[in-house]
Amino acid sequence: MSDFEVLSVYSETGGATKTTTAVSLAVASALRGHRTVLIDLDPRAAATKWLGVEPREPGLDVSAILADADPDGWAEDLAVPCLWEQLPNLRMIPSGRAVSNREKTSEDHGDIRLRVSLNGLEADKVVLDLPNRQGGVIIQNALEASDKVVYAGKLDEDGLDGVEGARTSVVRFKKHRAALGASDRLREAGVVIGAWRDTVPTRDARRAEEEFAAAYGDLVLDPMVPERVIVREARSAGEYYGFYDKGRIVHQAYDTLAGKVFV
Ligand SMILES: Nc1ncnc2c1ncn2[C@@H]1O[C@H](COP(=O)(O)OP(=O)(O)OP(=O)(O)O)[C@@H](O)[C@H]1O
Ligand SMILES: [Mg+2]
Repeated sequence: MSDFEVLSVYSETGGATKTTTAVSLAVASALRGHRTVLIDLDPRAAATKWLGVEPREPGLDVSAILADADPDGWAEDLAVPCLWEQLPNLRMIPSGRAVSNREKTSEDHGDIRLRVSLNGLEADKVVLDLPNRQGGVIIQNALEASDKVVYAGKLDEDGLDGVEGARTSVVRFKKHRAALGASDRLREAGVVIGAWRDTVPTRDARRAEEEFAAAYGDLVLDPMVPERVIVREARSAGEYYGFYDKGRIVHQAYDTLAGKVFV
């Protein structure tokens, strides 16, 4: 049994604010005093690039865990410190292109490798940034390793589709576990609405908000996260937006959400 909590951030569509949510929840968790490890599972490595983190040695990114038949305890070795000096509690396991090779191979017990790698990890909270996949090896690894899943969505059709698809994959995963008689600890922690236009709500956005409420009810977490230009600007500069005045409102929203999704 692990004494840390593992949270996946998931949606099946691109640009649904998964990476922003995963990074922000991880930062909020670290600032709340939890030893936090962010794991980038997307071969495009957006979170890794944002934090400007490099693996300890070439090849020692998350693909090493997914490629090895016995990665017991490897996460502790692969986690590297976050370079943002305000965050001594945050470490990261970077991603890399080689992760995409893992998606083409299917090996026995290949879906429990991430979970096994977390053994002995010195952390209180682990946050997984998922790629926008409909199932597959990476998603299976993430769900096997997770205690909780948060769906990330925007107030548009793509956002709705992505959360619906992700939820379908989670339900299928849980049914599969139940059919095996395996323990099932994965819980839905909620739907986080990101990049919310709080200034001029369009009719489409209002409709999407109603559809999210109708489909997910109390699972839709409050508050929605406002859209601010500083989020994109800081990310392309390799910085955290929340350390700027203009980004504080966005960070505060994610911090409130962190208080809800982590125990
Ligand atoms: N609150 C916000 N304010 C402004 N821009 C935002 C906000 N949240 C996310 N964005 C921007 O929206 C875009 C998509 O966000 P993000 O990369 O987090 O989505 P994703 O679901 O991880 O995408 P992908 O499927 O490519 O992994 C990015 O350019 C990001 O900077
Ligand atoms: Mg992403």
